[in-house]
Amino acid sequence: MFEGKNVVITGGSSGLGLAMGKELSARGAIVTLIARNREKLEMARTAIKNAGRPVHVFSSDVSRIESITETFKNIEDAVGSPDILINSAGILREGYFDELSVETFREVIETNYFGVLNSIKAALPSIIKQKGRIVNISSVAGLMGVFGYTTYCSSKFALVGLTESLRYEMNPLGVSVHLVCPSEFASPMTEHLNDTRTPENKAHTLTIPEYDIDTMVRDTIKGIKKGKFLIVPGKFCRLTVWGARHFPAITRFVSDLRISREFVDRL
Ligand SMILES: NC(=O)c1ccc[n+]([C@@H]2O[C@H](COP(=O)([O-])OP(=O)(O)OC[C@H]3O[C@@H](n4cnc5c(N)ncnc54)[C@H](OP(=O)(O)O)[C@@H]3O)[C@@H](O)[C@H]2O)c1
Repeated sequence: MFEGKNVVITGGSSGLGLAMGKELSARGAIVTLIARNREKLEMARTAIKNAGRPVHVFSSDVSRIESITETFKNIEDAVGSPDILINSAGILREGYFDELSVETFREVIETNYFGVLNSIKAALPSIIKQKGRIVNISSVAGLMGVFGYTTYCSSKFALVGLTESLRYEMNPLGVSVHLVCPSEFASPMTEHLNDTRTPENKAHTLTIPEYDIDTMVRDTIKGIKKGKFLIVPGKFCRLTVWGARHFPAITRFVSDLRISREFVDRL
């Protein structure tokens, strides 16, 4: 499925994007990574190359439509038409709603929602031509609300709506669309989160224990191969999502209970 395919990964210099890049490269894909920081991109290139395959890297900001459109033109010229686009670039801002500025909301939406939208817009003609695949990395926080994640959940819920609607438009064109909703896993994004996050967020989020990144990669690839639309990596996480869908009142009760144990009355 991946042998010889052009796979472009936004957010490919770190965490899940990089781990997917390594695995798909090992499975024979021609991997192209996009992120902003050039140094991190070069380190990622070396990490994948050491496993035996060349990799292409492009520095670009997904939240800027001109930047990402230009980048996809350059990828088309230098590497060829993308067959698979994996949108993994994302940022996390956690905190109490009353302490978060509107600018922070805009920043998160610009990256996590418009960043994906911009990348799809830029890559779409090639993806349609190739009858390819779009893989959007949202989050469990795109399926259920979380204490402290008003910014993050807003962006990831929006991404879920975009992905589900886009699937209906792409299906008749032969383009597959996948929505990946992981719970918390170990990556640079979450490395220092425990130093800064609100205690309520920690208690609520870690209702589902933190996963390792290998489980995320394995289950995501398995889901893509099976042609699944919604991919929720990790058995316990899948069970939690299923429970929240069918028994939302119980989910709210358990969440409220966990949050109340850590609640800080600041207002
Ligand atoms: N880690 C978790 O627990 C978790 C759970 C659920 C979902 N997710 C989602 O999974 C995805 C990957 O997360 P991760 O943990 O692997 O994060 P990560 O290690 O922090 O990696 C994020 C990547 O996105 C890139 N990026 C950020 N803003 C960008 C921008 N404006 N333009 C281009 N690239 C940008 C970063 O590189 P530069 O900074 O150099 O641009 C980096 O390569 C994200 O969408 C995240 O929301 C993560």
